[in-house]
Amino acid sequence: MLKIIGLNGSPRGSQSRTRQLIEQVLNYTRSNGAETEFYDIAKLDVKPCIACDRCHKIGSCFQKDDYQRIIDGILSADGIVIGSPVYNYQVTAQLKTWLDRLGMIIHCQMFSGKYGVVVTTSGGAGETETADYLDFAVRRTGAQCVGRLVSGIENDGLLEKGSPLFDEANKLGRQLMDAIKEKKVFPRQIEEQEQLKGFFAYMIGQRKEKWEWEYNYWQQKGWL
Ligand SMILES: Cc1cc2nc3c(=O)[nH]c(=O)nc-3n(C[C@H](O)[C@H](O)[C@H](O)COP(=O)(O)O)c2cc1C
Repeated sequence: MLKIIGLNGSPRGSQSRTRQLIEQVLNYTRSNGAETEFYDIAKLDVKPCIACDRCHKIGSCFQKDDYQRIIDGILSADGIVIGSPVYNYQVTAQLKTWLDRLGMIIHCQMFSGKYGVVVTTSGGAGETETADYLDFAVRRTGAQCVGRLVSGIENDGLLEKGSPLFDEANKLGRQLMDAIKEKKVFPRQIEEQEQLKGFFAYMIGQRKEKWEWEYNYWQQKGWL
């Protein structure tokens, strides 16, 4: 059974319209046979990166909180729906805090073979830039980003039943399911990731002792 993870960066919980849209994408995938899990990052204990560099050496984050729970969820999944409201023209601090912890995941391209879609909502400014950033963040992990739902909604509060955005969310769910089932390849994204791997090969090769876990992982993969 396919598994899809939803991640929401809004602190509004059940009052979040970003969450409404992420959940609609998940509902679509569930009604088409997928298993889903949802995380409200702001409701979890996710501490900021303390720049200890231990993840590169030991292969996991030293801090004990909910960060790893989300990672484990994604590692066990085929797809991810990542969303955030726009705060000061970017993703929320809560979501960025989690993204900052992805150092080892990015260096080792741990989400490679998975697919992601992006959801952003705003009051009308910064939603495209925020979606661009989340799309980039997905691609940096090794996953391929297959689509996005970008909405600048002038009024406040939850989306009304019947909003056309729910149809867009269903469409995004379909795009995600199709990409996973067909194992779609997006050549530009793969090329970009290969270039990034060239840079990481150099960086990790230079830090054989310091980044021991990553070095061994790269060797086992035959990338060095
Ligand atoms: C602290 C804060 C900063 C915000 N910054 C922006 C912004 O830069 N641009 C914008 O269009 N809307 C901004 N908004 C509005 C939210 O992006 C918008 O209401 C969003 O849809 C809320 O999503 P949510 O219901 O999922 O939390 C901001 C809201 C808050 C609370």
